[in-house]
Amino acid sequence: MTNREDMTLTSSGYYVSQEAPIETDNPVATPQATPPDILRCAYMELVVTDLAASRQFYVDILGLYVTEEDDEAIYLRSTEEFIHHNLVLRKGPVAAVRAFSYRVRDAEDLDRAVAFYTELGCDVRRETSGFVKGIGDAVRVVDPLGFPYEFFFQADHVERMSWRYDLHTPGELVRLDHFNQVTPDVPRAVKYMQDLGFRVTEDIQDEEGTVYAAWMRRKPTVHDTAMTGGDGPRMHHVCFATHEKHNILAICDKLGALRRSDAIERGPGRHGVSNAFYLYLRDPDGHRVEVYTQDYYTGDPDNPVVTWDVHDNQRRDWWGNPVVPSWYTEASLVLDLDGNPQPVHARTDDSEMAVTIGADGFSYTRKDEGEESMPEYKQGEYKLGHQL
Ligand SMILES: [Fe+2]
Repeated sequence: MTNREDMTLTSSGYYVSQEAPIETDNPVATPQATPPDILRCAYMELVVTDLAASRQFYVDILGLYVTEEDDEAIYLRSTEEFIHHNLVLRKGPVAAVRAFSYRVRDAEDLDRAVAFYTELGCDVRRETSGFVKGIGDAVRVVDPLGFPYEFFFQADHVERMSWRYDLHTPGELVRLDHFNQVTPDVPRAVKYMQDLGFRVTEDIQDEEGTVYAAWMRRKPTVHDTAMTGGDGPRMHHVCFATHEKHNILAICDKLGALRRSDAIERGPGRHGVSNAFYLYLRDPDGHRVEVYTQDYYTGDPDNPVVTWDVHDNQRRDWWGNPVVPSWYTEASLVLDLDGNPQPVHARTDDSEMAVTIGADGFSYTRKDEGEESMPEYKQGEYKLGHQL
């Protein structure tokens, strides 16, 4: 990633630079083939072990709209969506992710996806009638990082529910915003994603250049997916957007009223990275769902890359609230194209948790004053085992 000397420190405490080629010790080869022109993250196919329990969580509590359902699967969409679905819940024996699915610009991009991933030696399968209901010709691959990626163009159209105020809830989920993937080697992942046409918007590094996480976009928001350093390949979360902050607070209130507050893992809060207001929930299988709003426009070609110091305790929560350990360590399995869980490989670089809240970690609010300038009770919050 970019050297600190080439970055400019802002008055907010993060650095900015222009996106540069990523250096990695173990790169995925750059294919000769042109990558598919990806429009956006479009849907996730999730395997859940109890379809009724998941339906209660995603439909009755979170208010996603049911496009179609049967005994095996439920197809859900957010308020503003006009294609068939943003989330497929499929009944299965092991909770996992079956597909991270992206929409491409036209049908020829599917040929490009086949050529791109075939050149990389990946398992590539094409289903002209689609792998799931509502989606036509599609390509599924296990990508070089081990994730099941899908690309499609044709999709059935359904009604956009934006005008159906009679149905809206206080916590209305209006769009699918992004995925978040856990992978051991973040620079390797970022270089491959750049080859696939993604642009970096933000990252977290230390002064030695270790990269802990990176955020990447196709649509002009902070991200369509993020790469989080950790044991992987695993799925960290899938995220839906609301219009306003108060919608997120309403979800918290509703969960409390239903005595389901234990579904709240982290937040609500304000991210440093992305500047978005956020909440992390866990579904009945433990799949993590983020609710998020008010990040920023990133569509200009010279959009600055934002880099956060891993020791800045406002990077993941702008208010300095600690990140719970489960958020760093737990994530969902992902499946290969035959439905088998992908093996999980350990991260070898330092973990973000260890360098910030572990026994040897440190975090600061004001870099020039160091951790010791923080009130003692606040220092303790960042050391595991010091909370009590
Ligand atoms: Fe996220």
